Amino acid sequence: MNDDESAFVRVADRSTLVADGQMVVNPGRAIALFHRDGTAYAVDNRCPHMGFPLSQGTIDDGILTCHWHHARFELAEGDTFDI
Ligand code: FES
Repeated sequence: MNDDESAFVRVADRSTLVADGQMVVNPGRAIALFHRDGTAYAVDNRCPHMGFPLSQGTIDDGILTCHWHHARFELAEGDTFDI
């Protein structure tokens, strides 16, 4: 294994993610995976505000919105607009 390989952990089959559009995996903590417009994204499934499962949030135009208090996260970078 080289250094590049050690930085990644296989957690899911890409074809399943593409077919389902999203899934939650748990390689030690819950991670929400999303597939949108040909790209896979991974975010902590726990909203940093009060823990709502972000896999149940809404995605619109690359922005993931938490349903509890409407915090918004940019999927591509993981940045938040609100917290
Ligand atoms: S739990 Fe997500 S915004 Fe409050």
